[in-house]
Amino acid sequence: MNHAKRLLLANRAWSQEATARDPGFFERLAQGQQPRVLWIGCSDSRVPAERITNAQPGELFVHRNIANLYTSDDGNTSSVVEYAVHALGVEHIVICGHHHCGGVRAALSAPSDALPAVNRRIAGLRQLAHRHRDTLNAIDDFEARVDRLVELNIVEQVRLLRESPIVLSAPVRPTVHGWVFGLRQGLLTPLTDLDDVPDSMPAAIAAA
Ligand code: CO
Repeated sequence: MNHAKRLLLANRAWSQEATARDPGFFERLAQGQQPRVLWIGCSDSRVPAERITNAQPGELFVHRNIANLYTSDDGNTSSVVEYAVHALGVEHIVICGHHHCGGVRAALSAPSDALPAVNRRIAGLRQLAHRHRDTLNAIDDFEARVDRLVELNIVEQVRLLRESPIVLSAPVRPTVHGWVFGLRQGLLTPLTDLDDVPDSMPAAIAAA
C-alpha cells in the first residue's frame, strides 16, 4: 500500500476510535476552537507538536516552517501570530526548535543552488550565525555547532516575537517561551524561562 493511502486508512481508524471513546468529541470540535497555546515549530517530520506534547485536537494552534522562524515581513507567519494573539487570545506562544535541525545545518553550510526558496528563507539564520561566529567557531564538532545555533535561534525568535508589534499590542499579552526538543530522548527543554520546568509530570505524560 502506498504511503498516502495508508494515511487515509489510519485516519478512519483514528476517527472511529475517538468516537468510540467519546461520542460527542467531533460535535464539540465542530462548535469552535479555544486553544490556549500558539506553537511555532519546525516542519521537520520528527517533531510533531501534538504528538510530543500529548495535546488533543483543539489544544494547540500550530504554525510550522523550516527552522521555526518568525519574521514580521513574512505574511504567512505573521498572519498566524496575529490571529492567535488578537482573535483567539492565546495565553502562551511556544517557539520550539530541535537539535539536528536541517534548516539550521543548511545555514552553516554552502548555499544549495537547488533550493533557492530555502536559501532566501534562512538568510536571517546565516546572519545570526555570523553574529555569533566567535561562539560557534569555538565548537569543534560540526553537529554540536548546529545544535548550539539551534538554541541561539530559538532565543532569537523569542526575542523577535516578544518585541513584535503584534504581541506588544495584544489585549492580553501572551507569554513567549523558547523550548528545544532533543531527538535522542524525545524531551522538551525550556531555554528562555527556567521556571517553565514542571515540578512533576502528570502520570500519563511521564509514562508516555
Ligand atoms: Co528543523
